[in-house]
Parts: sequence; C-alpha cells; structure tokens
Amino acid sequence: MDLKKEILDLKKEKKAVILAHFYQIPEVQDIADFIGDSLQLAQKTMQLKEDLIIFAGVYFMAETVKILNPNKRIIIPDKNAGCSLVDDVDINKVKELISRYPDHVVVTYVNSSAILKTMSYIICTSSNAFKIINSIPKDKGIIFLPDKNLGKYLSSVTGRNMVIYEGSCIVHEQFSLEKIIMLKDKHRNAKIIAHPECEDVILKIADFIGSTSALLDFVSKDTSNEYIVATEPGIIHQMRKKCENKVFIPAPPNDSTCACNECRYMKMITLDKILHSLEKEEYEVTLSSEILEKAKVPLLRMMEIS
Ligand code: 13P
Ligand code: SF4
Repeated sequence: MDLKKEILDLKKEKKAVILAHFYQIPEVQDIADFIGDSLQLAQKTMQLKEDLIIFAGVYFMAETVKILNPNKRIIIPDKNAGCSLVDDVDINKVKELISRYPDHVVVTYVNSSAILKTMSYIICTSSNAFKIINSIPKDKGIIFLPDKNLGKYLSSVTGRNMVIYEGSCIVHEQFSLEKIIMLKDKHRNAKIIAHPECEDVILKIADFIGSTSALLDFVSKDTSNEYIVATEPGIIHQMRKKCENKVFIPAPPNDSTCACNECRYMKMITLDKILHSLEKEEYEVTLSSEILEKAKVPLLRMMEIS
C-alpha cells in the first residue's frame, strides 16, 4: 500500500490529527491536517477535540503543545528533532543574568526548553513578539532569551533597551549578505523577505521581515512577482502553492557546498517516521507535573495577548 494512504487510514482509525510546521518537507506538509507557524500550531491544538496528536515539527514546539494540552497525547515522530536555540542555552548563565537584573521582566522566545519557560514571565513567538514586548510597562527593563538576533530586532523596532542572551539559530545565521546582494543584482525586481532570526545585516536589506506565517501572508498579498526568501526554504512549498505564478528564490548560505540553510532538525521528520509514530504511538512527549504547571503560566500569558 502506498505510504501516504497507510498514514491517512491509520490516522482515521486512531482518530489522530497531524500537525506540521512550515519547514517540514513538502510530503509531510501535504498529509498534515493543519500547517502553521509555531503560534498557530499551539493555538490550533487548544481547539482540537482529538486526543492523539502527531506533531511534525521540532521538540520544543511539541513540548509547548503538551504544556498547553496536558491531557492530550503528543507524539513526535523523531525525538532528536531539536533546535540550536534550545541547545545553546546554559541555564546557569540565565540564572546569573536573572539575579543580576532582579527587576527586569524575563521574556522568552518559544524556541526554548520547558525549563527555560518555567523561569520566564512571558513567552513570545516571532509572530506576536512585537505585541508581547509592547505589553510590558515602559518603566520595566527586559531580559530577552535566548535569540540574540530576534532580541536585537525587537529592541530596534520597539525602542526598548533589553538585556539579550547570546543564542542563535544555526540556519538563520548562515545567510550570506554578499551572495544575497549578488542575487538581487541579477533579479532587480525581487523583494528580499526575511525571518527576524536572521542577522541584522540581512534584516537591514530586507523589504519585509516577519514570522513564517507573516512571510506567507505578505507574498500572497504583495504585488511583486519575485522574492528572495531568507528563511528555511521549507516555507517555499506553501508560497508556491498559494502563488503559482510567482518566483521564490531561497537565500543562499555562506557555504554553497552544503544545505545549511535547511534546518536539519525539521528535516528529520519523514513519512516513514510518521507512519511508525502512528503505529507505535511513539515518541510521546512527557514532562513532570511541576514543569507542566510552571511553564503553562508564561505560555497562557502569551496566549491571552495573542
Ligand atoms: P515561526 O514561529 O515563524 O514559524 O518560526 C519558528 C522557527 O523555528 C523559525 O526558525
Ligand atoms: Fe531551531 Fe533554527 Fe531549526 Fe527554527 S530553523 S527549529 S530556530 S534550528
């Protein structure tokens, strides 16, 4: 039987739902019941009546879904699908930062571990970060964890001074300014669109900056026909589906011999692994009740503002 049919039949039999992030491989995006950015996926699960969720994305996203839906079973098809922003964080350094600035409000990007979330006042994603920062009283200092590029960008657009942790995304740091400029020279009418996890030199030349869903929305409403896309190229699958006649060019990485503008973690999820995860109902995301309760507080604060 073909793999896709096997997955869809088993999903139906088990009354499961498949959620996928925009960076997943096209075959996975195409079998998902719902595709979205990290905020949309979290919001969606809170509206679902089904209890078995196959999460095609990375671990911190599946963890977020679990924290918001502690009674549902959240299954990730590959438990090694991590994120460099999660791995980069040294909890002791964060503790030190918090004790150095005891009056500051801790705002943490959703690309973080559940433990880091328990240490935060509020969480943000790239699509609601501007709103979240603006919700913090002006007289309050902010510690922003753990993405330095998103933190710097938010500080520049909100005018807020922030103490920013030095984490970064291995994918969004790869884009080459020089190569993007060369590409723009060849495609003079192309607009450069970028995710705020990119370095500031890339963001400075971008015509539009936004989360994955904001980028998708922008290209579908904008009148241009060509775009240089400075984010993980998985999103281009949806862009091409929405705008059949437009041209999307993935922004090149510094090292053109590798596919390092692809997120190796997102790409760990395959159709085979999704079938396996449905058959065996593994790998289930589990967290202690203490972490679940503590991490839920800053996440629900974010949800209220979103
Ligand atoms: P979005 O919330 O914009 O989908 O971003 C998630 C992510 O991991 C970007 O690298
Ligand atoms: Fe993490 Fe970067 Fe992959 Fe997003 S693209 S999941 S931030 S490593």
